[in-house]
Amino acid sequence: SSPCIMFDPSMIQNQPKLPKEFIWSKGSGYEPDSNNQQGNHDVLNEPLVDLEGFFRGDEEAIKQASESINKACMTHGFFQVTNHRVDSSLIRAAHDQMDGLFKLPMEKKLRVQKNKGEMCGYSGAHAHRFSKQLPWKETFSFGYNYVDNDDDQEGVIVSDYIKSSLGDEFEFAGWVYQRYCEAMKDLSLVIFELLGISLGVEKQHFRKFFEDGNSLLRCNSYPPCKEPSLTFGTGPHCDPTSLTILHQDLVGGLEVFANNKWQAVRPRLDAFVINIGDTFMAMCNGRYKSCLHRALVNKKRERRSLVFFVNPRKDKVVKPPQDLVDREEDTTMSRRYPDFKWPQLLEFTQMHYRADVTTL
Ligand code: SIN
Ligand code: FE2
Repeated sequence: SSPCIMFDPSMIQNQPKLPKEFIWSKGSGYEPDSNNQQGNHDVLNEPLVDLEGFFRGDEEAIKQASESINKACMTHGFFQVTNHRVDSSLIRAAHDQMDGLFKLPMEKKLRVQKNKGEMCGYSGAHAHRFSKQLPWKETFSFGYNYVDNDDDQEGVIVSDYIKSSLGDEFEFAGWVYQRYCEAMKDLSLVIFELLGISLGVEKQHFRKFFEDGNSLLRCNSYPPCKEPSLTFGTGPHCDPTSLTILHQDLVGGLEVFANNKWQAVRPRLDAFVINIGDTFMAMCNGRYKSCLHRALVNKKRERRSLVFFVNPRKDKVVKPPQDLVDREEDTTMSRRYPDFKWPQLLEFTQMHYRADVTTL
């Protein structure tokens, strides 16, 4: 078996050369392009959807927002939202709490290491799983599931998980992430409503479908890298989830493939990046695109992002609403994807996606 590469930032950054496991080589289909550097790509900040009108119930503003969402999702599956009513001090606290997580000694991180197939816990780049093309990052993932007493008891209280797995000193971090997940869940329902409007289906359709969904929060840290042009923080991929809500610090590195080229998303502290994922693409019969994106690293600064993935409850059948199917002009394409349940897609993704692209 291959040696275990420990992604210990304090050690790995001091090595004179980038270890070969992190070099995304030619022929893989995922080699970095020749100018794989921050600052070398066009910037995409469109569209920026202001949610203020939605919260006020302003019909005209809602129409405008849904039109720009429709256009963006038909072309690349990416947009940003502002005036989202998520407390800026909560966002700041969620970022601040990452310090405690990423500064833990490696030995403690490994105690909560996420094993193959698991969703929650710590992940560095461990080469006993994949022998090459490791991402230049560390992550902590926490499940946030809707708890419904009379059905399967998989509800996870983020705060309990964090405190019990990392210790009492993480009680406050647990509380912050619990609140943050709740805020993300509420925001996701707003986005689902707007997506419903933008697709011209019953406006509560997607919102209702995801009200009891299960979600995942991931904290990402991308340490500085001596040779950033040879590697990726997160390789190019589409999220298998329904919707992804991302908040990034001001360092920058996220890029979206739009209009046939990679474009950098300039960070804004007041905005959330929204990506359409594969599951939502199937739920709208392929009208909206699952967003192809990646994250670059840089020489000087650590970058952090907080990503909330929204998934359907695992026993629910994922399929497009009938009125959307009925409106399909090309009857041979009336259904572009078969019915499925989220765990089936997840398993398929883990088997067939490139194992080294750690999307989940
Ligand atoms: C990012 O950190 O900006 C992207 C992370 C991801 O796509 O998983
Ligand atoms: Fe992603």
